[in-house]
Amino acid sequence: MKNRVFNFSAGPATLPEDILNEIKDELLDFNGIGSSIIEISHRDKIFIEVAQKAEQQVRNLLSVSDDYDVLFLQGGATLQFSMIPLNFKHLGATASYAEVGSWSAKAIKEASKICDLRICSSSKANNFTNIDDFSEWSIDQNDAYVHYCKNETIQGIRITQSPSFGKPAFVDMSSCLFSEKIDIDQYDFIYACAQKNFGPSGITLVIAKKELLAQSSTELPNILKYNAHAAENSMLNTPNTFGWYVAGKMFDWYEANGGVDKMEERSINRTNSVYKVIDGSDFYTNPVNPEQRSICNVVFTIDDPDLETKFMSEAAEHGLQYLKGHRSVGGMRASIYNALPDDAVSTLVEFMKDFEKKNG
Ligand SMILES: Cc1ncc(COP(=O)(O)O)c(C=O)c1O
Repeated sequence: MKNRVFNFSAGPATLPEDILNEIKDELLDFNGIGSSIIEISHRDKIFIEVAQKAEQQVRNLLSVSDDYDVLFLQGGATLQFSMIPLNFKHLGATASYAEVGSWSAKAIKEASKICDLRICSSSKANNFTNIDDFSEWSIDQNDAYVHYCKNETIQGIRITQSPSFGKPAFVDMSSCLFSEKIDIDQYDFIYACAQKNFGPSGITLVIAKKELLAQSSTELPNILKYNAHAAENSMLNTPNTFGWYVAGKMFDWYEANGGVDKMEERSINRTNSVYKVIDGSDFYTNPVNPEQRSICNVVFTIDDPDLETKFMSEAAEHGLQYLKGHRSVGGMRASIYNALPDDAVSTLVEFMKDFEKKNG
């Protein structure tokens, strides 16, 4: 379609055009039932099939064993910031949180209202541009769990190590799930909101060890209790049926496009092509330790702020949209999630080189 832009939004993010067309086609009549999928009961076998297929696809795509529950929850990744300590603070005297960027800092702020927490590592002093090796994190034997964010969407920095803290690892993978290979067995609890890599906002995937969820606090209302959601197959109440249905379409798309292995290779290649322009110039800057740079969110600045405004308005003329950095850090950010077409990245790379030539 002619008027679709190259959409670098950090989330809600772009979806494949084919999927949007399929949704459009199915919106009045899903598979000949005479209704859309969002107009029927979540308890109807037609929706249950959609839901179960999506869960199975998550298991296949990420090699999730039967030792884990896969939940489709609501309330965004943000609700997880509170649900995690509410459910699991009783597993220890304190909980360890790493402060490695804005989202992990938000998780800390929420959890500190609920449990006694310790900051086991912080990169605030270096402006979240370099994260300590796990061996330097201070985990206490009385900690209930360790929490961190694997890819900080705002600062464009990621952790590549797998956890082995001797304590359950709770990891926010909102902006990197399905973009990189992970060994699920190394994690106890993973969560991710959908609006980067698998659909519209309002649905959150939780992949967690069954034996951990079985220890959810018994004192909570059901809606806040993980094991209550698990017992009801994420249908304790009416789920976000539209989000779940679109997520299933994204999982079809992953299966048809080489799965997570391919997505990782592609994410590395595509973000490297942008980092190469940045590193090859005195005009653009990325402050992140090169070994920890995100393969999903590329942040960069131009020394002269007036040129940044010009950059974004000229980029928009080339169909390159939503490149503004997060309001808390400024600069530019190109979010390169899986559904973004390759042409978007190559057009950005050419535009950046050309803009530097004209203005550098
Ligand atoms: C890493 C990370 N964690 C959490 C969130 C919050 O997600 P939500 O807005 O769905 O609550 C975001 C959203 O952008 C994010 O990037």
